[in-house]
Amino acid sequence: MEYLRRFRPDLLPTEEELHAVRFEFDPAPPLETLMLHFCGEIRLNHWYRCASDWHTEPVIKQIYKIISHDEARHGGAYLRYMKKALVEVGDGARAAFSKIGVLMASARRTQKPLHPTNLHVNKDLFPNDTVQSRLPDPDWLENWLDGQIRFDADWEKKVVDRILHNMSLLFERTFESVQDLNRYRKEVMARLGTNDTPVGNAA
Ligand SMILES: [Fe+2]
Repeated sequence: MEYLRRFRPDLLPTEEELHAVRFEFDPAPPLETLMLHFCGEIRLNHWYRCASDWHTEPVIKQIYKIISHDEARHGGAYLRYMKKALVEVGDGARAAFSKIGVLMASARRTQKPLHPTNLHVNKDLFPNDTVQSRLPDPDWLENWLDGQIRFDADWEKKVVDRILHNMSLLFERTFESVQDLNRYRKEVMARLGTNDTPVGNAA
């Protein structure tokens, strides 16, 4: 904001624009939400690393590098709560984390960038209940990713690998692919005696 204030004040968000994205989210299951945000931080970390690589202006490169590190740190904070939940809740936490992990590591099959800001979070405001849809230019994010910083399949693979790597450490089992993680999820569901519901098409 300070950078924009000094160098491109015309791009500084107005109070009205900021107000549009301050709205209530409906309640959601806590463990799934935790994992969703963990994956969101991993994704942001990679978007900003990619942006830092793409830019040439040294201050902007450095800003993106700093905020990419911030996102990694946020992910680390969520991970500590996830480890705690594994001890306290056990298989219920494994089921929640693996379910959202399968969804979030399957982003290549979806239209929109798979980030919490693209999810519908308030039934009463539907369909204008995603953060992205309430921005002055709802298409900006996709244009930035696809047309500008070129967040391509190689970068997308890095996000998926990072999610699988963290799940491998968390569950002490090696997951080479989303399918591996989905198989693990089904094992946990069977142990819990819960009826399995398919997640996406990852079977
Ligand atoms: Fe963050």
